[in-house]
Amino acid sequence: MDADPGMQDALSADTRIVPVGLGARSYDIVIGGGLLARSGALIFERLGAVKCAIVTDENVAGAHLDTLLGALGDTCPHAGTITLKPGEATKSFSELASLCERLLELGIERGDAVIAFGGGVVGDIAGFAASILRRGVALVQIPTSLLAQVDSSVGGKTGINTPQGKNLIGTFHQPRLVISDTDVLMSLPERQFRAGYAEVVKYGLLGDVEFFNWLEKSRAEIFAGGPARGQAIETSCRAKAAIVAEDERESGKRALLNLGHTFGHALEAHAGYSDRLLHGEAISIGMALAFEFSNEMGLCSGQDAQRAIAHFKAAGLPVEIGRIPGGAPGAGVLLALIAQDKKVQAGRPAFILVRGIGEAYVEHRMDMEKLQDFLKRKCSGK
Ligand code: GLY
Repeated sequence: MDADPGMQDALSADTRIVPVGLGARSYDIVIGGGLLARSGALIFERLGAVKCAIVTDENVAGAHLDTLLGALGDTCPHAGTITLKPGEATKSFSELASLCERLLELGIERGDAVIAFGGGVVGDIAGFAASILRRGVALVQIPTSLLAQVDSSVGGKTGINTPQGKNLIGTFHQPRLVISDTDVLMSLPERQFRAGYAEVVKYGLLGDVEFFNWLEKSRAEIFAGGPARGQAIETSCRAKAAIVAEDERESGKRALLNLGHTFGHALEAHAGYSDRLLHGEAISIGMALAFEFSNEMGLCSGQDAQRAIAHFKAAGLPVEIGRIPGGAPGAGVLLALIAQDKKVQAGRPAFILVRGIGEAYVEHRMDMEKLQDFLKRKCSGK
């Protein structure tokens, strides 16, 4: 642990610190049990006695808001709390406009901070609001879902959805601090935990075969909440921090973090960003498709593709397009949605393919005919 000496009294022995090295915009991800109750002290150490507005959702507020308010106490004056409706549908232009206006009504000024207190939806929309409010105010991420703790709270991406696709409107706005209290995951519904686990597996599949080997052995302990859970979150955050430090604005390597996402985002759009298909479930199917397609293209062994798919299945995650409740999209619909992906260049979507477990790469010259043929078969359940 390489914490600031001044921070020590706010931390317990199991606390892990992952630094994100971005020069003047560097920050720490603090991971461990019981951190929510210490968050006022952690924020004070980094930002001083900053006035804070909390943005959260109804579920997180019901379970944990009192603990956060108690922790802010007199250390960081509380300007007010804005409670959003849970779910991906909240990431819209109209909700963003109303959130910004409510933050202004709370008197949030340039020197104040927004605390994004929730899962990926809250982090994305609150981060977006913080990035444009008075041309940018400080952001503290306190992620409460596994998905947000290992991915969306780290790296500064913010965004909302439009009918054209997911996260097509957004900004880069790095947080000043990320506080990941592993105890709050105990109250996370199991389906949400499983969905977040897909992002953990992603780090192994994209660049760290040793981590994937370890996940195969440690999955049960991670789900049960043993020490392996903190280790999995730390390793995931270290992997993401290293990539973000190298390529903050996704001009190269950061695209690897989108393994499974080109397919996954299109499937989420097809499902109307609803509870029919959670983000983590969509990317689980997306990663399975990336491995199967890579195998068909002769890039990756069938054994590696089967191992990756078997691990998702063992974790209770979907791997087939036909498993989407309410019905699978047709291949034409899926391809049209894929064409809207953020990584499209000159009309050609980039895909993250694999040469094996831990060996993802960006394919800019996808064979679209082969892809179409592959998706036709997958969408009809073959
Ligand atoms: N979740 C992908 C990224 O942060 O780049």
